[in-house]
Amino acid sequence: MTSPTYSLVNDQTGEKVALPLVQGTLGPAGADVGKVYDKLDLFTYDPGFTSTCSCKSAITFIDGDKGVLLYRGYPVDQLAAHSSFIEVAYLILHGELPGKAALEEFETSIRKHTMINESLKRFFDGFNYDAHPMAMLTGVVGSLSAFYHDTTNNRDPKHREIFAHRMIAKIPTIAAAAFKRFFGQPFMYPQNHLDYCSNLLHMMFAVPAEPYHVDPVAAKALDILFILHADHEQNASTSTVRLAGSTGCNPYAAIAAGIAALWGPAHGGANEAVLKMLGEIGTVKNVPSFMAKVKDKNSGVRLMGFGHRVYKNFDPRATIIREQCHKVLKHLGKEGDPQLELALELENIALSDDYFKERKLYPNVDFYSGIIYKALGIPVNMFTPMFAIARTVGWVAHWTEMVAEQGGPRIGRPRQVYVGAPVREYKALGAR
Ligand code: SDX
Repeated sequence: MTSPTYSLVNDQTGEKVALPLVQGTLGPAGADVGKVYDKLDLFTYDPGFTSTCSCKSAITFIDGDKGVLLYRGYPVDQLAAHSSFIEVAYLILHGELPGKAALEEFETSIRKHTMINESLKRFFDGFNYDAHPMAMLTGVVGSLSAFYHDTTNNRDPKHREIFAHRMIAKIPTIAAAAFKRFFGQPFMYPQNHLDYCSNLLHMMFAVPAEPYHVDPVAAKALDILFILHADHEQNASTSTVRLAGSTGCNPYAAIAAGIAALWGPAHGGANEAVLKMLGEIGTVKNVPSFMAKVKDKNSGVRLMGFGHRVYKNFDPRATIIREQCHKVLKHLGKEGDPQLELALELENIALSDDYFKERKLYPNVDFYSGIIYKALGIPVNMFTPMFAIARTVGWVAHWTEMVAEQGGPRIGRPRQVYVGAPVREYKALGAR
């Protein structure tokens, strides 16, 4: 069967522009509209990028209708069941699952870069003790661009690799330092004999005054959560990293831009917003009045952790996280956690309610993750930093994929439909 062809036609003049297809491996093809402005003096208009591809990528595939998420072709549920976050990080970065030697070499390199420059620690003193950890992450990660002058050639694969390893290795150390700053406790240095997630838990919860033993169930739960949050195609924060990186800027600065974008409650900040929402609802008996507010457009209230731009079915990550919720809470003797019960009741009600069904609103990755984080003793304001730690792998991989393109990236520069004032003459002050 021959591939369909597409074109754009000016119905008045009959002028026609062919739209060549950019075919992918899976999912819809893209119609290349790059010549439309030149040929028809016409822009394409898609403010939320609902139907617009910004690039080609081989990293992650999502089928929103079927609730499918693949990292380099591997279903995320299989990776969550059988892999580890550090192995998934290698896969997302390099495109293939590593052999034993490659995995050991990668993991050793990450462990060797977990410490941050001692002078970076003074940056945290500049923040008020109650600064949001995401504000600290954004500032401190951006300042990494002031420390590494030995690897600033984005066109050099070795420089790109050392950036990738440093960024993935240091983000947990920086996040844990933000956590310690917030609680007024001394920073804990990374312990390189620990695996990635155990090291993070150690840096967050250990204190110099006594030994700290990482709960392996907690570390494993975190590892699975990080696998599920590692990448997600061209989401807002990843697109931010790509757009910033397309200018050729310092890669640490591009990651800081991604952290800033992730912070929003419509994006990675939703996990924190879900727990605040559950707190405001309080008990199951308040669910009907809350749902009435959600359906009232004038209230501005949304069911946080529900809905997704791409998933119009279950977010496969939410299903796995819900299962993990039960396992972790059972292990910690916190079964029957009232907020988990409330979340399950909210989900049941929403999934049988026409308002949500008509709009294809299902639980997303953020609906249950906060319940696990809270059960692990992680405070609400650290939920989005947890998301940022995991998504750093995706951000670094997308930056690398873009920068390594033949000839380097073309700067991203969207156009606009101008709706402002027409041309007019300046008026002297006295004439206004
Ligand atoms: C993440 O892009 C990614 O991949 C992101 C992410 C990743 O891994 O990177 O998956 C992570 O950000 C997950 C999403 C976390 N955000 C939230 O949970 C916040 C609550 N959800 C929403 O605000 C919303 O669903 C979005 C932002 C996620 C998606 O917004 P869209 O695609 O722009 O949808 P929309 O705002 O146009 O809504 C369509 C309709 C509207 O109703 P109508 O005007 O058609 O009557 O659905 C309604 C919305 O009012 N709606 C909701 C709702 N989400 C959408 N109504 C109530 N509660 C909600 N949560």
